[in-house]
Amino acid sequence: MNNTTYVQLYAKSLIDKDSICVDMTMGNGNDTLFLCRLSKKVYAFDISKKAIENTKKRLKDYDNYELIHDSHSNIDKYIGYFQLNS
Ligand SMILES: C[S@@+](CC[C@H](N)C(=O)[O-])C[C@H]1O[C@@H](n2cnc3c(N)ncnc32)[C@H](O)[C@@H]1O
Repeated sequence: MNNTTYVQLYAKSLIDKDSICVDMTMGNGNDTLFLCRLSKKVYAFDISKKAIENTKKRLKDYDNYELIHDSHSNIDKYIGYFQLNS
């Protein structure tokens, strides 16, 4: 079993339809999509504008996410927002 499959299986054992998830590096949105399928809401970070664009395209059939164009190292700035908007 490859690492991605192993990690996704483990994530599936933890995440349900009430879960709020954070993807710290959205990239092309593969993991963000995986989390959107499983959870109530996903917040995803990336410092790259291209990553935001690519991920938005990949998530075209979903609306339970927010894409944040910022470094995940600033996550503490968003916790209050997450709590109010989830
Ligand atoms: C390997 S890609 C992630 C792939 C992604 N998990 C997927 O499923 O497509 C790594 C991403 O991390 C982003 N990145 C690097 N440093 C970051 C930071 N401090 N905060 C947020 N994103 C960062 C890069 O811009 C790049 O898009």
